[in-house]
Amino acid sequence: MVKSNQLFEKIMELKRQKNAVILGHYYQRPEIQEVSDYIGDSLALAQEAQRCESDIIVFCGVHFMAETAKILNPGRKVLLPDMKASCSLAESCKAEDFSRFKAEHPDHIVISYINCSAEIKCLSDLICTSGNAEKLVRAMPENQKIIFAPDKNLGSYINQVTGRQMVLWNGVCTVHDAMQAEAVIKLKEENRDAPVIAHPECNAALLQVADFVGSTKAMLKHIKSSSAKRFIIATESGILYEMKKENPDKEFITLKDEKCCACDDCGYMKINTLEKLYACLLNESPEIVMTESQIESARKPIVRMLEMSRKLGIIK
Ligand code: 13P
Ligand code: SF4
Repeated sequence: MVKSNQLFEKIMELKRQKNAVILGHYYQRPEIQEVSDYIGDSLALAQEAQRCESDIIVFCGVHFMAETAKILNPGRKVLLPDMKASCSLAESCKAEDFSRFKAEHPDHIVISYINCSAEIKCLSDLICTSGNAEKLVRAMPENQKIIFAPDKNLGSYINQVTGRQMVLWNGVCTVHDAMQAEAVIKLKEENRDAPVIAHPECNAALLQVADFVGSTKAMLKHIKSSSAKRFIIATESGILYEMKKENPDKEFITLKDEKCCACDDCGYMKINTLEKLYACLLNESPEIVMTESQIESARKPIVRMLEMSRKLGIIK
């Protein structure tokens, strides 16, 4: 069996030979984050995919992310180390059911969270990520009726902070939704100096006891600038790698430390391994394949998101 450091070298060599770039999400295993050329949250990775000039993009994340990279780069080869890297949100929202839901609300526009399939993107007017959802929704005319899909937790959080009444699709991220407010309250009582930092995919009861709610990038920024030394973290475990790297003097308490709470690993994100990444680069497979018409129609709401995010100063 090839050791990790040998694999690491082989991946670096293949990357050079094939003019490939590795884009990785913060929820990937640490060794994958290390070998990636660019690490980011969903918004930053979509932006990076749009800028890409390499012949091959290996996307170390989940399927909808690799699909987004393909939509933004129809002429490049986009690879995903394991095609089974799905997402409970994308799974919860099938095109046939969503078309029916849309037909029940004919005067609504559709804003979809990027965590959905290309078919759902084709049925959407605008895509958002957790990093820009609030500002994009606020930018819509006040009387504009909106369907928000597929994350009901993020949607109801945005409704709460903006005062909107968007109609919500009933999907959840099973990892964030399973995190329990009771576990957070117990940790808070035991660690009174530690603020609770939570991702808006968490359920409403948990978000109510959080001190800071924000996207992956916003959490990282907040922790770096905060004077607190200890934090209770309510999000996927992969982010701890970057949090610890950026803040070696700070301590992070996770819900995994609290035995009554569910595991904070996303099985879909962790399905990618260094071995699979190596094989995928070597064989140039599995590859994301889409029809031209699907790419064309799914690209519009993604490009609109990126353009609006630039105009609103969310990204450069
Ligand atoms: P962000 O990367 O937008 O924070 O989303 C988190 C997530 O769950 C990705 O699947
Ligand atoms: Fe989907 Fe949740 Fe996993 Fe992100 S963490 S990929 S939203 S299941």
